[in-house]
Amino acid sequence: MDHFQYKAGKLLCEQVSVQELADTYGTPLYVYSAATLVHHLRQIQLAFKEVDPLICYSVKTNGNLSILQLMREHGAGFDVTSNGELHRALTVGSSGEKIVFAGVGKTEAEQRRALSEKVFLFNVESEAELLALAQVAKTMGVIAPVALRVNPDLPPKTHAKTDTSVKGVKFGLDIHSVLEVAQKFVKQSNLEICGIHMHLGSPILSVEPYRQGIAKAKTLVAELRKQGHPIKVLNMGGGFGIHYRKKEALPAQAFAEVIVPAVKEMGCKLVLEPGRFIAGNAGVLLGKVIYTKESGGKLFVIQDAAMNDLIRPTLYDSFHRIWPVEPPKGFEVPPEDYECPGEGTLSVDVVGPVCESGDFLAKQRHLPPLNQGDLLAVFSAGAYGMAMSSNYNSRPRAAEIMVSGTTHRVIRRRETCDDLIANEVEYIAK
Ligand code: LLP
Repeated sequence: MDHFQYKAGKLLCEQVSVQELADTYGTPLYVYSAATLVHHLRQIQLAFKEVDPLICYSVKTNGNLSILQLMREHGAGFDVTSNGELHRALTVGSSGEKIVFAGVGKTEAEQRRALSEKVFLFNVESEAELLALAQVAKTMGVIAPVALRVNPDLPPKTHAKTDTSVKGVKFGLDIHSVLEVAQKFVKQSNLEICGIHMHLGSPILSVEPYRQGIAKAKTLVAELRKQGHPIKVLNMGGGFGIHYRKKEALPAQAFAEVIVPAVKEMGCKLVLEPGRFIAGNAGVLLGKVIYTKESGGKLFVIQDAAMNDLIRPTLYDSFHRIWPVEPPKGFEVPPEDYECPGEGTLSVDVVGPVCESGDFLAKQRHLPPLNQGDLLAVFSAGAYGMAMSSNYNSRPRAAEIMVSGTTHRVIRRRETCDDLIANEVEYIAK
């Protein structure tokens, strides 16, 4: 469920015309729906209510401060993976007690800051990190709360670049070494190994990996408790998938049905780190058609949103639904199945102005005939869109707009050419 709907042949975000937003703020433009963001957080809160989880919105997904603020206001904590993300969470007023800190390469400075902010949990990924964290905690005279991040060695479940729980990836402790490593830290007084963390990959469209991961977690929790570690937290990470093509995603309830009984049985506090599920379908990227052209027997729609704005299609061959914001006559209702050629559509490559053949948002996509100036909406762009954007080709980053009901406001201004050179211009040789 999201709040981007076509009514009378026009795309609305909540009650605001998307065309008007583009006219007001320009393109490329990220537009988010506050109601959708809150709705998805609420879906998770409701599904897992019985075990009163700590839901830590994953800042890497979309770290815009106004989005984080909305999450905090609605009860979320934060999953952070760098000092920068920690800074963002603290800036919107989160307390450390609602923050969990993940990542394979936390530096001493990051550990120190997180300890002084009294974060709820460090998701620790190696023996070397345990040693380093214990040392930092000792110098600060504190005890670091730790969940051991485990790589449960499950079958592949998503794109190889975003699958984090198959053998041989850099994440977590190899499941076969967890107990051996944990044993070495039983008497370490500056660490409390109080949890297990598993982030299985992203996006996941089945409950099966969670079922398999939890079965392995159960055995580990029992063994770690036998070693004397007071295990009281189960952190199942993020990963819940969303609709990119049609209606392929599962509701939060489906994941809850697998996770909640296991959490109760283990007697643990549940932590979840959802990102995409909350932000993915809450955002669209708008691009305006600059030119159309034919080359090598193919049709190209060149519009002003590019791989530097949304790199997912280039990086992962991701599919994002695309449709005109105000479609021509006969195309007012967007297709159920975007992969199926609709009557009168043309097969086009939707590309941007960046100087790379890999700069595309869609290939061989069935779209109505388009003209210069037409506006295209790239859907499900709220997660890992702006967050992974860059200034490649010295393109200023897009503006971000938040819509709520009938109102809209800038939540990140469009970058300028002066922003692009701001960190260099004073160093030009005189
Ligand atoms: N927790 C940890 C430790 C993570 O590494 C991630 C995502 C999450 C939570 C949130 O996962 P989510 O609920 O959003 O699935 N750039 C890729 C996705 C990379 C995910 C990285 N880790 C993409 O655009 O698909």
